[in-house]
Parts: sequence; C-alpha cells; structure tokens
Amino acid sequence: MLSGKFQSLNAKNTSGEDYLSPSRLLRWYISFFQKDRLRIATGVLLTLLQSVALVPVPLILRRIIDTYIPGRNTHAILAACAIAAGLYLLHAMLAFSGRSLTLLCTKRVTENLRALLCMQLQQMSLRFYDRERASELHARVVIDTERIDVMGNAIVVHGVSSAIMFFIASGVLSWVNFQLFLMTIALLPLFYTAHRILKPRMREVNRLFRDGMEGMSSKVNDLLQSIRLVKSFAREAHEQKRAERQFRTVTRSALAMTILDSFYNNLMGFLTNSTTIAIYATGGLLITRGRMTVGDLIAFTGIIGFLISPINILMGMVTMVYAGLASLKPVHRLLTLDDPLEKYKGKRIVTQLNGAVAFEHVSFVYDTTGKKALCDINVSVRTGETIALVGESGAGKTTFSNLIMGFYFPTEGRVLIDDMDIRELNLRTLRECIGVVSQENVLLNTSIIDNLRYGRMDATKEEVIAAARAANALEFIEETPEGFDAVVGDRGVRLSGGQRQRLAIARALLKNPQILILDEATSSLDSESEAKIQEALERLKANRTCFIIAHRLSTVISADRILVFKGGSIVESGKHAELLGKGGEYTRLCQRQFPSAQKESA
Ligand SMILES: Nc1ncnc2c1ncn2[C@@H]1O[C@H](COP(=O)(O)OP(=O)(O)OP(=O)(O)O)[C@@H](O)[C@H]1O
Ligand SMILES: [Mg+2]
Repeated sequence: MLSGKFQSLNAKNTSGEDYLSPSRLLRWYISFFQKDRLRIATGVLLTLLQSVALVPVPLILRRIIDTYIPGRNTHAILAACAIAAGLYLLHAMLAFSGRSLTLLCTKRVTENLRALLCMQLQQMSLRFYDRERASELHARVVIDTERIDVMGNAIVVHGVSSAIMFFIASGVLSWVNFQLFLMTIALLPLFYTAHRILKPRMREVNRLFRDGMEGMSSKVNDLLQSIRLVKSFAREAHEQKRAERQFRTVTRSALAMTILDSFYNNLMGFLTNSTTIAIYATGGLLITRGRMTVGDLIAFTGIIGFLISPINILMGMVTMVYAGLASLKPVHRLLTLDDPLEKYKGKRIVTQLNGAVAFEHVSFVYDTTGKKALCDINVSVRTGETIALVGESGAGKTTFSNLIMGFYFPTEGRVLIDDMDIRELNLRTLRECIGVVSQENVLLNTSIIDNLRYGRMDATKEEVIAAARAANALEFIEETPEGFDAVVGDRGVRLSGGQRQRLAIARALLKNPQILILDEATSSLDSESEAKIQEALERLKANRTCFIIAHRLSTVISADRILVFKGGSIVESGKHAELLGKGGEYTRLCQRQFPSAQKESA
C-alpha cells in the first residue's frame, strides 16, 4: 500500500523545485486521508454533534427561568436539570469518541508520511546526499511531519466542525433574539482587526522559534556525533559557548512567542468578555422595554460561546495551517523528488555474477563541485582477478569503486559487469552481489550477531559462527560474557579498530559476494592483530574478483594487477616488479609509501 501511494506521488520533479500552490499542497495532503474517509467523516460528525449536544442546554435554562420557576414547578425543574446533565454526559462521550477517531486517522497519516519519507531517503542516490544536509533531512522526518500532524488535526478536528458550529449558533441566536444577534455580529470585526494586526507578528516569532529549535537540535546532534573530536582537542569550553548561544536564541524566541501568544489570548478573552457585557447591557435594555425575557438573555449568553469559540478556533488555526504548510512544502518536495539514479529501475535482476568488470572510456564529474574525478578510464578485469588500486589522495580510487557499486553513473562511457551495462541492471540486486569492507567499518548499534547477519539476513547461527571463525573474530567474541549478543555501541565504539575490521570481514564473508571492494585500513595495528586480519582477508579474497585500495606493500605485491591512479586517470598498470622497473609514478609512490619496497622486491 505504501509503495502504491508512493508511485502516485512521483510527479516529474528532478530539479527539486515545486510550484504547488497552498491549496494544491493541502489537497495533496488531504488525499492521504482517502483510505480513512469514512472514519474521518464519522469523527467530524461526532465532533460536530458534541458541540450541538450542548446547544439545547441554555434553551433549557431559559425554560426553567421563564416558565418553571415562576410556575413553581419543582418536578419540571428537576426533570429539565436531569436532561441538561444527560446532554453534558452525551457531550463528553461524543467528544471522546470523535477525538479518538480523528486522532487515529491523522496519526496514521503522519506515520504513513514518515514511512514514505524514510523509504524515499533510502532510495535517494549518493548524489542527493552530496547535496543535502543531514540535519535538514532529519528535520523533515521528525519535526516537519509533527507540524503537519498538528495542522491535520486542526483542520480535521476543529476546522470543519467549527465552521458548521458557527452557522448553527448564528441560526439559534437569531432565533432567540434577532436584535441582540445583530448587535453581536456588529462587534465581530473587532476580533478580526486584532487578529489581523497581531497574527503576522506571531507568525514571524513562530518562525524564529522553529528555526531556533532546528538549530539547537542540529547543534546538540553535531556535538554528540563529534564528542571524541571535541574531547581530544579539549574544545569543551568552546563548544559549550556555542551551544549556550544557541540555547539563548531559542529562549529569546520562545519567550517572544509565548508572551505574544499570551497577549493575543488575553486580548481575545477581553474582547469576548466585553462582548458578553455589551450583550448584558443591550439585553437589559431590551428586557426593561419588554422586548425580551430574562430567560432569553441567559440562553443568549449561554449560546454566544458557540459562536465565538469557533471564531477563535478558526483564527487560531491560521497559524497552525501556516506552520503546517511551511512544513508540507519541503516534505512534498522531498517525496516527489525524482532521483534519476537510484530510482533507475534497471530491468535486469542480477542473481549470480561471474565478476568480470570493465570500464569503457569512463569519465566522471561530481555535479556538486563540477570536479572531474575520473578521466577516460579503460580497464577490463577478469573473473577472480585481484586488482590493487594505488595513487595519491584524491586521485580517484574511491570514486572508481563507487562506480562499480552503481552509487554514481559515469558521466561519459560505460561500466560493464559481466558484459552488462550497469545502467541496465537492477541496482539493488547488483549490490547484493558486491561486498564492501571499508576503512571505517561501519557497524550498527546492535548485537554482534545482528551486525554480522547484515551480510545475509537469513544466515543460520552456525554459518555466522563459521564466518566469524574464518575472519579470526570468534576468539574475541567468545571472550565477552554476552558473546554474539554483545551490543557494539554507536558505530561499534565498544570494540577496537582491529575487532571492528574483523567483524566487517566476517560480514562480507557471510554475504559471499562475487565482487569484493576492499579499502585497506591505513591505521597501523599491532603486528599480531595485523597478522590475524591479513589472514582473514586472504580467506575473504579467495575465489572472487577483488578491488583493493591498497595501503600495504604485501597487498600490492600479491595483486594480479596494480592500477596506478593520478589526477583521475590510470597512468600505469601492471605487476609490482614490472611497474617498479619503469621508474615512473608507481616507483615514486612506492618510495614514499613503502620505503622498503625496492629492497624487498629486488
Ligand atoms: N562526494 C563528492 N563530491 C564532490 N567531489 C568529490 C566527492 N568525493 C570525492 N570528490 C573529489 O573527487 C576527487 C577524487 O576523490 P576520491 O575520493 O575518489 O579520491 P581517493 O583516490 O579515494 O583519495 P583517498 O586516497 O584520499 O581516499 C577528489 O578531488 C575529491 O575532492
Ligand atoms: Mg578514498
């Protein structure tokens, strides 16, 4: 059901711009309620009935005052009071069920929106993430949806029923006393004027507060993400100052917002009370002239609330709707964004690869920076070959491997996997066949076994253990009391670098990919752990095509072929000894990276 909805939302929107008017935006949002329309209609009806149920109460009071009290009819007084109490009970029950029902619907829509956003974010390509800020995307899913929810509630719960209530109350009031009704209506522009003057300012401080909250959230998030950096540079005081500045901004805008809000509410309260007084004054005059009864006046003042509170609600709604629309816009933009890469549903499902990879005249430009990172690359790699990628920092090694994964498509030329253009392949299934062990060895904050099973979700415990053993990870896993159930902490913080690496290797072993991309760790480990990792890597490399971004001499020496990158081009390729003989770029690299290289290989 999610995906169905999702498809229908895919407007042509590749630039990220949208020109939807607020009313179309709202219609788009309301379309989410389609499935729940019966529930919503019932909820709105119940909410309306809840208000309507109270309308007779002032009329009953009128009857008591005008008829039963003068007639000293105690039975009738008690019976009327009992009816009024019954109406209050009915009101409470209707209010509760109406509220629950509409809340259920709006919350469901919000959940649906969040799921769609999350799915969309996961489908976006790395090109998208090169452009966007993570904290803003975070806000889309967490904060914006909440504001849309508030707006949805306001419209669904209060908007519709308040508007209808206003007309019902007008009808009843004009029936009770038409002159008094006209006088009351004449006062309404006062409310409107106060609203017109104050609301723009309230919207502005509201926006400031929102921005402040978002800034605060991303500041705290940043701080927690980089806590190790902060501590190691001893920059706590500096960070504290920056955080406090942000907190102060939030406090200021929150105060401004609350004070203005309170001023507005009190002003509205004052106007409401003044209206009541004006009604008493006019009503009093009308009573003395015999044009109205005391009961009429009491009924009128009782019902006037049903006229004024919908007005207040509707005026209050304007802010919520504005805030909601402001949030709806970027959410809609994100959901209708057509990301040509990841959405690219190449038809060919990949189930089994041989692992041959070829680059044909491949050039690649990062569109964020316009930087040409690869330049006319031509390489053909046979199944089972081990290729070492070397080159200075920024030479294009990671970019090269990203193109194999289909994270980006070449700007020019073709990348072929088993002689199939990568553009024709279903990228998700392609990636099922490619394993990556990166330098960072990202782990999820969950148990070791779940982290390993990320490689293959349906792996049995025995298979997981076998993979851990092959990756030389079993020993340290079994040393901890919780074993495979030990939770590794954020990004695997509770493990050592070498342990993280061995888990990443075990994870790749479980996946058993035909193509392996390996970014060797640059950080030096102690020789024992280094040897264990080396051994694990040898097992991992067997029987597959491997691309290794090499930082170790042993890797380059044992590789079937070395590709030497420089400024986005492959300037040399061949075996270690061959390349050393040329005395070119590779020799210079070796002299810098592995000073002992010549001696060893000689
Ligand atoms: N996401 C990106 N957006 C824009 N430019 C990028 C991006 N990633 C890399 N680049 C640029 O592309 C060039 C090649 O980068 P790449 O990451 O491929 O280098 P590398 O050879 O892997 O370097 P290193 O050895 O330091 O990891 C660099 O100049 C870099 O600045
Ligand atoms: Mg790199």
